Amino acid sequence: MKNIFKPSCQMRRKELKEVNKCIKSLNWSSFKGATEGWNINRCIGLTSKEANKLKPLEVRFLGGKYVRKLEYNFSKKLNSKFAISANSATSCLTLALGALDIEPGDEVIVPCMSYIASATAILTYNAIPVFCEVDENTYCIDINDLKKKISKKTKCIIVVHLGGSAAEIDSIIKIAKKLKIKIIEDTSQAPFIKYKNKFLGTYGDVGVFSFTETKTITSGEGGILITNSNNLAQKARLIRNHGEAVADKNWSDKKLINIIGQNLRLTEIQASILIEQLKDLEFRNKQRIKNYQYLKNNLKEIKNLKQPITIPNSVYTPYIVKWRWQKSQKLKISRDQLCNKLNKLGIPVTKGYGKLLHENEIFVRKIAYGKKNFPWSLSKKKYYYGRGTLKKSEAINKEFIWFKYINYPNTLKEMKKVVKAFKKSLKI
Ligand SMILES: Cc1ncc(COP(=O)(O)O)c(C=O)c1O
Repeated sequence: MKNIFKPSCQMRRKELKEVNKCIKSLNWSSFKGATEGWNINRCIGLTSKEANKLKPLEVRFLGGKYVRKLEYNFSKKLNSKFAISANSATSCLTLALGALDIEPGDEVIVPCMSYIASATAILTYNAIPVFCEVDENTYCIDINDLKKKISKKTKCIIVVHLGGSAAEIDSIIKIAKKLKIKIIEDTSQAPFIKYKNKFLGTYGDVGVFSFTETKTITSGEGGILITNSNNLAQKARLIRNHGEAVADKNWSDKKLINIIGQNLRLTEIQASILIEQLKDLEFRNKQRIKNYQYLKNNLKEIKNLKQPITIPNSVYTPYIVKWRWQKSQKLKISRDQLCNKLNKLGIPVTKGYGKLLHENEIFVRKIAYGKKNFPWSLSKKKYYYGRGTLKKSEAINKEFIWFKYINYPNTLKEMKKVVKAFKKSLKI
């Protein structure tokens, strides 16, 4: 059956114009893993605002004019000192963990419900992921379980604002601060969504955003990291761009930790698209909210369909709508049966995660590096993964019905078809 819904990846004339200009300039990357005439310490310490003022090819260690303009525009919008782009949000998570000096054997807590990269990035520095249950309303970190999972080895918490829902970031920060635990906000699925008077991603030490093709704005692939910390920004910029090659002999050992050469750079072509897309992000978010409000209002009579519940002081801006189907005596149809019926009527709903993070073989078998269960073999402590270890989240996942075409440019016209199909499937 033909898919009547439109994907999130959209190109307007403005983007085409900018990307054409960039392509014709023949500066498609502009990055170099060298500082050429610049003192490295000064170069990596520039704020995004300062870096944007430089001439197009002046400091190639920090990228070209489009990359630096995108970074500045992003940082300005979020009122953050530094925005550091990369070729994906996965790369940004790696940059963040590296910059935070995460070491082999350290524990990093992450909710068991997220995209796999939120967990595997931890392994890049040979740290150990500790999975946490999610809350039954927001599907973000469950605070009570978080408290149980914190140990002396916990160095960092990756807070995922899943699917456009804000995690209880205030409470998490309160807990973390007391224990000197660092916070990375994985805001890949919640760009430019506010909690209280600040954007998600600006509460923790670092915030990470994704521009992969399914996201609200996109350049095919791409990501950006924001921080107000000079130290973290400097280190992230080094890891992004072959940092070890520009280190000089006066550097402390601490400064050298975790900067093994990587190339995680965003291209000028991608940045030129994103600069234009960024101007549209809040408008696109508003369309998501409008579409969801329509669905919520028109499906409210279906009591078995549980709507996500957002924490106070934030507006649910769905990335993918995550309903839960809770069958009853009155409506005995199962989640799978309902999904099949909706699919047959042309509504491409899906059934949630195939596996939650802790159910993946790499964790179950503890087999990240080499044949000796590295990094788990670094610790005497026993770590338990696999089905049955996070029962609450597993039960939630079994009830999910997901709908992803909540995005712009889909409008109420498409949403009406969703409502109609639900009602037809349930004979209401
Ligand atoms: C919550 C979350 N974290 C991380 C990522 C990884 O993003 P990217 O594909 O840009 O590497 C995604 C991507 O879908 C995501 O949804």
